[in-house]
Amino acid sequence: MTLIEMIGSIADNMKKEQTNLEDALKQQLRVSVSDQDMIDGVDRLIYNHCKNKTELRDLIGGSKPTFNKKMKEVVDDGLISEPIYQNRSHLYTNEQIHVLLDYFNYPKFSDNHNSKVVTVTNHKGGTGKTSTTLVMATATALDLDLNARICVLDLDPQGSAGQGVVQIADDSIYVTMTDLLLAEYEKDNEDNPVNILLENGYLFEDIVKACPFSTHLSNLSVITAFPNDERFVDRYWQLGEKEQSLLLQKFKTVVLPILQEEFDLIYIDLPPQDSPITWSALEATNCILVPITPRYYDYASTSNFMSNLHIRLQNLPSKGGNIEWLKMVAVNYNENSKPEYHTVQKLLRSVRNHLFTQTIAHSDAFTAAAELGRTVLDIKKSEEICTPHQFDLAVDSVRLFYSQFKNELVALSAK
Ligand SMILES: Nc1ncnc2c1ncn2[C@@H]1O[C@H](COP(=O)(O)OP(=O)(O)OP(=O)(O)O)[C@@H](O)[C@H]1O
Ligand SMILES: [Mg+2]
Repeated sequence: MTLIEMIGSIADNMKKEQTNLEDALKQQLRVSVSDQDMIDGVDRLIYNHCKNKTELRDLIGGSKPTFNKKMKEVVDDGLISEPIYQNRSHLYTNEQIHVLLDYFNYPKFSDNHNSKVVTVTNHKGGTGKTSTTLVMATATALDLDLNARICVLDLDPQGSAGQGVVQIADDSIYVTMTDLLLAEYEKDNEDNPVNILLENGYLFEDIVKACPFSTHLSNLSVITAFPNDERFVDRYWQLGEKEQSLLLQKFKTVVLPILQEEFDLIYIDLPPQDSPITWSALEATNCILVPITPRYYDYASTSNFMSNLHIRLQNLPSKGGNIEWLKMVAVNYNENSKPEYHTVQKLLRSVRNHLFTQTIAHSDAFTAAAELGRTVLDIKKSEEICTPHQFDLAVDSVRLFYSQFKNELVALSAK
């Protein structure tokens, strides 16, 4: 082989690698679960969300014989595999449950509700944005009564919302929101996989649809961020005023409509900064949820954040006209602490009906679950990863908060 031929074959090999991107993206569509712990051959994360036949019949309804007959048909027709048989009961995985809901024509969220974007934001670092986003997204996905398709959009280049839920190999290629939004400005940037995919004939729409990673819940997906997404900020400041405005609107006008075909609720986890990344999200947001830790300094910085937000929204291309709802929630709250109690009282007086009365408790269960790459709704008390008291504290407060949140969301999104 001559040197010239060699260069040709290297080029061919490199091209092959490029088209492999498509495979890499397709891989993400597979369920990615991380737990090593297996129960009767089933991954712990899958097992924890199984439901038995009685629970399903309570949800779906119908007489026992008809229900049982239909359940048998679903397996016989090969729509789902045999359920797990344990302790004399049949257990159905979250994925199977969703196939069953479809089979029984169970109402979908989209039948009666519009798709909404909920952004979780506060410029103060460590106020529980990521924890709140993940636990609310999980609660909504687990709510079979809602039967909604959920996406978490991680826009924090330094954050961990994405990485907390899905395990990504160090060398894997994936598309972030910044890659999508900057593609047209980065024709020469080899680190942006979007242009390579476009050159290989993929449609922008298909690339957007291939971005979300699947998770242990079949109706919960995650679009992750990457540290070099920070370049969105540099690019923004290099543009002229008109182009800046177009870039800020691009998520709302170009990407979001594609995502909303696939998802009913999109939760955005924002970085603790006032930057073009957050403005781009706010431009597309319907609901703003501000978590606040009830500590003295957090109160002060959150009140600064609120006055800043007020100005920020007015300066957006849409002038904040898309915002339908803003609420705050006290999180990581230790109700035995007097100063924290007083801060919550102060919040109630100042924020009034824009503050959820239910708080999310401070509990070791949050940190213990996060260490396992899960939320508190993905653990069982019997796993003993924290004390039963800490477990109840966390899960009860999350459930009560979710029910207040759900009421708001359902009312707001009703068709
Ligand atoms: N209710 C809680 N009880 C105990 N610990 C909590 C609780 N909520 C959050 N934490 C812990 O507090 C820390 C900060 O939470 P989190 O990462 O959710 O905040 P954040 O606002 O997203 O932070 P950043 O601004 O860095 O993105 C984490 O270690 C998390 O595990
Ligand atoms: Mg965070």
